[in-house]
Amino acid sequence: MKENNRYLEVAVAAAKEAGRIQMLHYGQAHSVEYKGEFNPVTEVDRICDQAIQKTIHHTFPDHDILTEESPFKEKGSPWRWIIDPIDGTTNYYRGFPFFSVSIGLEKDGEVILGVVYIPVLDELFAAQKGEGAFLNGKRISVSQTGQLKRSFLATGFPYDVQERPEYYLRYFHQFIRQTLAIRRPGSAAIDLCYVGAGRFDGFWELRLQPWDLAAATLIVTEAGGKVTDPRGGPFNIYSGGLLVASNGLIHDQMLQAIEEIEEEMGR
Ligand code: IPD
Ligand code: CA
Ligand code: CA
Repeated sequence: MKENNRYLEVAVAAAKEAGRIQMLHYGQAHSVEYKGEFNPVTEVDRICDQAIQKTIHHTFPDHDILTEESPFKEKGSPWRWIIDPIDGTTNYYRGFPFFSVSIGLEKDGEVILGVVYIPVLDELFAAQKGEGAFLNGKRISVSQTGQLKRSFLATGFPYDVQERPEYYLRYFHQFIRQTLAIRRPGSAAIDLCYVGAGRFDGFWELRLQPWDLAAATLIVTEAGGKVTDPRGGPFNIYSGGLLVASNGLIHDQMLQAIEEIEEEMGR
């Protein structure tokens, strides 16, 4: 077995185990706590977090693990797993069936592998650097839509949206006027994978965290899409800045739309 297939095997096993746990508890009453005022976490997020960490550490005890639900205890390994045990927690505990498990792997600061699993749909997205992106084993590629006005986009809002809704809504307002339709599904990892699969033509969101993004941004680029910052430069998953993802064809039009509003907002 190729060494990098071991990483993929472990990532898939961990994602499927977390998905199994999620389905076991899905639709039941959950104990919801809040990190800060708005960011929810349930007991299932924590159970999945532990299960994923256990699976990874069983095979790779020296690797670092950065996960949304546990404090980061850095060992200084060149390998770093980046995990969101449930992306779409609000959807999950409300019984809205759009949530996922996201597992990315960095080597020396570069994401080389990503797996996103949607348990309700049994959809497993996977990519390895330079080897393409796959949905349940079948290669995927981005859409062919070339015009922003014909585009189907997705977005999301960070948990501080209540504090400055006007700011985030400027972007929404700009894109809703210039596109065919927009969705706000509630799991950034899925939104990005759906860009990779050609279901959405593009996606933007501000203030995402590395665990929302590490796996799914690789899936987009390996499916032939583009992921950048608002100036068209490389996107840093730790930056918390505005992420723009697309099929590549509408990318400049998305950046242009963003530039227009940022000029209006005076930045
Ligand atoms: C959230 C989801 C959502 C996005 C938020 C994220 P969580 O992650 O990805 O789509 O809009 O910004 O925080 O909290 O459900 O893991
Ligand atoms: Ca998340
Ligand atoms: Ca989460």
